[in-house]
Amino acid sequence: MTSTSRAPRQRETWTSSTGFILAAIGSAVGLGNIWRFPGVAYENGGGAFLIPYLVALLTAGIPILFLDYAIGHRYRAAAPLAYRRMARPAETLGWFQIGLSFVIAVYYAAVIAWSLSYFVFSFDLRWGDDTGTFFTGEYLKVGDPEISATIVPGVAIPLVLVWLAVLVVIALGVTAGVQRVNVIGIPLLFVAFLALVVRAVTLPGSTTGLDAFFTPNWGALTDPAVWIAAYSQIFFSLSIAFGIMVTYSSYQRRKANMTSSGLIVAFANSSFEILAGIGVFATLGFMANQASIGIEELPGLTGPILSFVTFPAVISQMPGGTFFGAIFFGSLTLAGFTSIISILLGVAASVGEKFGLGQKGSALVVCLSCAVLSLALFSTTSALLALDTVDQWANNVGIVFSAIAMTVLVVWVLRKGPTLKAHLNAVSTFKVGWWWILLVGALAPIYLGYMLYERVRTLITEGYEELPQWFLNTFGWGVIGLVVLAAILLTLVPWRGRDEPEFVPWPPLQEEPASLLQPGSSTTSDILRPRLPEQEEPR
Ligand code: ALA
Repeated sequence: MTSTSRAPRQRETWTSSTGFILAAIGSAVGLGNIWRFPGVAYENGGGAFLIPYLVALLTAGIPILFLDYAIGHRYRAAAPLAYRRMARPAETLGWFQIGLSFVIAVYYAAVIAWSLSYFVFSFDLRWGDDTGTFFTGEYLKVGDPEISATIVPGVAIPLVLVWLAVLVVIALGVTAGVQRVNVIGIPLLFVAFLALVVRAVTLPGSTTGLDAFFTPNWGALTDPAVWIAAYSQIFFSLSIAFGIMVTYSSYQRRKANMTSSGLIVAFANSSFEILAGIGVFATLGFMANQASIGIEELPGLTGPILSFVTFPAVISQMPGGTFFGAIFFGSLTLAGFTSIISILLGVAASVGEKFGLGQKGSALVVCLSCAVLSLALFSTTSALLALDTVDQWANNVGIVFSAIAMTVLVVWVLRKGPTLKAHLNAVSTFKVGWWWILLVGALAPIYLGYMLYERVRTLITEGYEELPQWFLNTFGWGVIGLVVLAAILLTLVPWRGRDEPEFVPWPPLQEEPASLLQPGSSTTSDILRPRLPEQEEPR
């Protein structure tokens, strides 16, 4: 069928702003908030980390979130097509972002599967007294030698369940699948997690943990690595610069208040993140108190070890530990699930648009290929090392590079800053000014460029976690190289059977946004309902 004979396909939309906001919070609040943030903050200056964290949120997190929103909402497509609509060669950046999402989903699913297993283990505290040996030995079966590839059924089975659930939700589509899961899941998650934090801060010794978490190490602020950690954390946590929010906002109705939704999402996400830090460290304080040791003497305060070794040990010791464990791992699973569906929706929508596949077809192709890789790589005995390495490179190299490329391309090369600013202002009540273009176009590329340079230099000169170079070349640099290659190849593949789906353009935008939002004004209907064919925007 040719493009001339095909009517524009109806684009699904979120049914309300609340639906969109809950889905965007669901995407943002994930494993990054619960297992990543507390450890990253503790390692990078404790209380002092909140300064780079807030600076990163205000100078890059929110501005780049708005940029993702503006691109998705204006160009009404997932990342590759949205960039292509700005300029054809820019499609490659969209595929690079989607490639990162694909890579992240591959290992993200593994952590959700671990959480699901641990949710079940909570009921009989199956991890026993030696939680470290249980996690790496009995559960993950990390062997000797550590780097090997034998499938572990205890991990593979929950992983298959996670992938089946992701497939069903994505195949159901934006409203019947993704929105419904978030509308039910996010309030549930907030209530459960709040209960957990209240329990944690009332445990004896909790203040020791809170002191460790909040006591600032001001010296850390002069270390570039601390700032890189803060920016990477914000990007990962807000789900920005890797194609997710472009896709989500492309499903927003044309008349939608974009920046205000963005502020709600960003502050809800950071509040949850800080709440998670409080809950986790209050609990660790209890453990240190029981053992009469300092927090710093506890084993493993970061990453997977914090959640899957240290936390189970605390749960075993506390009164009502079974209930606490079930809420903690249940929340981790739910938060991870609402995030992975956003990561995969972006990939599925991109593949669907490029290859002319429907929602179910693209969901099947993407979820199956991602699941096979996920099972092959992360249900094996080298899962832990591979996961940590891929996470390090995808976040600290891939996403930071993607953010720089995105800001330089959009603002400097394509000169879309003013258009996107006018777009946001025409549809939103919170207006962005010149400062937004300055932050996104001038400041972000400079400091992110410096941080990326520092990070890459350190990874090249010092390696990572004393892992063999061939391993880093495979799971670190190799993965990034593959994403670049895939992005170039996918750009070169012709759009299936016709040109890309038809785009119904917006009329020229005026920098007179406030009046455009007055109900009933003639300009409102001119700007917000611009020459739309009926089928483009369902009522
Ligand atoms: N934003 C998601 C998280 O924080 C990816 O885990």
